[in-house]
Amino acid sequence: MSVAVVTRGGSAAEEPFGQTGAGLRRGWGVSPGRRQAIACTLQGLVPGAGRLSPARLQAVTSALVARRDLWADLIVHDPDVRWYLPLHRSNSCDVWLLAWECGQDTDWHDHGGSSGSFAAAEGCLVEQYRAASGWRLSRRQVVAGRGVAFGPGHVHNVAHSGSGSATSIHAYSPPLLAMTYYQVTGYGLIARETVAIEGAEGARGRGGAETALADATAAAAELSSNALPGGAQGIDELLAEARGGLERMRPDAALAALTDGAALVDIRPLEQRIVEGEVPGAIIIGRNVLEWRLDPRSDARIPALARTDGRIIVMCSEGFASTLAAASLRRIGLHRATYLDGGFQAWKAAGLPTRPAQSLG
Ligand SMILES: [Fe+2]
Repeated sequence: MSVAVVTRGGSAAEEPFGQTGAGLRRGWGVSPGRRQAIACTLQGLVPGAGRLSPARLQAVTSALVARRDLWADLIVHDPDVRWYLPLHRSNSCDVWLLAWECGQDTDWHDHGGSSGSFAAAEGCLVEQYRAASGWRLSRRQVVAGRGVAFGPGHVHNVAHSGSGSATSIHAYSPPLLAMTYYQVTGYGLIARETVAIEGAEGARGRGGAETALADATAAAAELSSNALPGGAQGIDELLAEARGGLERMRPDAALAALTDGAALVDIRPLEQRIVEGEVPGAIIIGRNVLEWRLDPRSDARIPALARTDGRIIVMCSEGFASTLAAASLRRIGLHRATYLDGGFQAWKAAGLPTRPAQSLG
């Protein structure tokens, strides 16, 4: 991500906030006085708790679009990266100010179950979105002074449109916590990755976390840490323990094992196989049913594979989830189970055979 130095906005941008995420520089928050003015504007529209309807969220964005004095002097237009600034956050709703330049867009994403609204305050945006029912993609322009609203299942890609800069105001309820990004494929929109939110429209923008949000995140982390029972293992310890009992099988060794009767079991979800591709001959077994298919005592087992003397090589995308899965198989008696070190990515990088995803099952 390219980064530009955030210059101080107007008199309202008075307080620097903490270090932002990787690749981001310190930005500037909104002064307490300005926050208070924004909260007053939203009084009556934003309750202290609860979920706001899309119509109510649109009332929020419309109310702020009409109050240029609350945000116009804060905007930084940057041709290289999208810029954003948190304007307001409560338990029920968060509100963001975004700036857009020619060629900038959000990529396809959802809002982690939040409803939302955005309104163009200046310039013009274009929204592509998936219809509520079916796979059909639609498109609508959002010109200055107009806004749209959507429910929790909405998936869209918002882009700058027309000439000149654009500015928009976005509101979400409940406040954004995570968003999933999608890839457009021949199978429709396929989930690609889920990211924790550090800014409006995900981590793609610039401007950094808002102070209140950063404080809340730090408090939540401390709470989680304090609540851990004694002796609880972290994921790194869990992985190290699992790998301690497993053979590291690199792709070339795995290929040799396959020709010698081993079975390669692909536990990646369909979305990942569509995006990344498949290994010809791999047996696809979802991670959620893996033990039931391979336990020799299970009624749902695959007899040819559920054998204590069988050699199972579990494959995921990068060789992490497969480690835990292989360790689980060992615990149910498949003592020769192991994992593909580096996963599908390492297999592909080694130049071994792959193909586009074939199976929708
Ligand atoms: Fe969005």
